[in-house]
Amino acid sequence: MKVLALNSSPRGEGQSKTEIMLSHLVHGMTEAGAEVEIVNLRDKKINTCSGCFQCWTKTPGVCIHKDDMSRELFEKYRQADLVVFATPLYHYAVNATMKAFIERTLPMNEPYFVPLPSGRTTHPERYPHPRAVVLSVAGFHDEEAFGPLSAWAKYLFGKRLVAEIYRPGAEAMAVSLGGSRAQRILAATVEAGREIVTNGGISEATMQQIHEQSVKDLGIWTTVANLMWKTCIAEGVTLKTFVERGLVPRPDSVESFMLIMGMAFNRDAARDTRAVIQFLFSGEVEGACHFDIDNGTIIPSAGRADSPTLTIETPFAVWMDIVTGKADGQNLFMAQKYKVDGDMELLMRFDRLFGR
Ligand SMILES: Cc1cc2nc3c(=O)[nH]c(=O)nc-3n(C[C@H](O)[C@H](O)[C@H](O)COP(=O)(O)O)c2cc1C
Repeated sequence: MKVLALNSSPRGEGQSKTEIMLSHLVHGMTEAGAEVEIVNLRDKKINTCSGCFQCWTKTPGVCIHKDDMSRELFEKYRQADLVVFATPLYHYAVNATMKAFIERTLPMNEPYFVPLPSGRTTHPERYPHPRAVVLSVAGFHDEEAFGPLSAWAKYLFGKRLVAEIYRPGAEAMAVSLGGSRAQRILAATVEAGREIVTNGGISEATMQQIHEQSVKDLGIWTTVANLMWKTCIAEGVTLKTFVERGLVPRPDSVESFMLIMGMAFNRDAARDTRAVIQFLFSGEVEGACHFDIDNGTIIPSAGRADSPTLTIETPFAVWMDIVTGKADGQNLFMAQKYKVDGDMELLMRFDRLFGR
C-alpha cells in the first residue's frame, strides 16, 4: 500500500501535535508493510484555487498554477492508494493550508453533473481518488469540537473515508509527553496505523484508547493553562519561548499558588521530611495557606496551621518572583523583603523540595 501522509500544521521543531500524532500513525503503517511518504505542507508552495475551471476545460486535468502542487504533489496524490490528511483543528475545520491542498485536487474530476440515486449530485472521476484518513488535533478537550470537521469529511470523502482520528486536548497531551497517559495515546495511534493497513479500519478498542482524556483533572489543567497564558502576556513571550525557557506559570491567587506548589513538589527530595510550611501573604493578594509534608506527600490547605515548622510572611508579589525564578530567594531574604520564623534549614531546601 502506497500512503501519502500530509501534515498541514505550520508548526515544527517538536511543537506540532499533528506532527506527533501523525509520526506515530505512520510508524504503525510502516510496521504493517505500507510504503509511506510524509509531506510537510508548510514547506510547500500551494496557491489557492483560482476557480477558473481551466483544469476542466482548456487543459483537462491540468491546473494553471505552476507551484509545488502542480509540479509534484498532485502526481503524488494521484499515485497514492491512501492519503492521510493530518491537520490542526482551526476554527472547527481543516486549516487553510490543508483546504488549499484539497481544493487543488479539482483536476482529479471531470466537470459533468451526475445525479446519484441518493438525490446528491457528483462529478465523475477523471482519475480514481485515493482512499482517505483524516487525523486532527485540537486545543479544546471536548470531542464535539470535531463534529463539523467529521460531518464535512464524511460528506466529502464518502465511501473513500477509511478512518477518522480526532485527538482533543492535544496541547495538554504534549505537556506530559513522557507521562503514561500520553504514552498510551501514542501507542494506540501506532496501533491504529497498523490496523488501517492490515484491516482497512481502526477497531473500537484502539479508538477508545486514542480518545482517553489527556489530563487527569481538567479543572486543574484549565487553571494552569490560563496562568500560563497570563504569564506569556505579562512577560511578552510566545508559547514556544515559554516552553523553551522552562518558565513557571505565575500564580495570581492563594489557590493557584497552592496548585503550582503541589505540582512543583519533588516527592523524592521529601522522602524523609515531615514538616508544615505556613505562608502569610500581604499586598496585592492577601491570605494564608499551609502545606503538610509527610515523607514524600504534600497536602495544601487554605488558612493557618496549628503549629507550623516554618512560617514565611511575605508580600505575595515578592514570593511569586521567587517561585517563577525572577528573583533570588536568598538575596530577597537578606534585603528583608520577607520574614521567616522557624526551621531555616527547611527554607534552604526549598529549591530541591519544589524544584520539579
Ligand atoms: C488559528 C487557530 C484556530 C484554532 N481553532 C481551534 C478550534 O476551533 N478548536 C480547538 O479546539 N482548537 C483550536 N485551535 C488550537 C489548535 O487546534 C491546537 O493548538 C493544535 O494543537 C494545533 O495543532 P499543531 O500543534 O499540530 O500545530 C486553534 C489554533 C489556531 C492557531
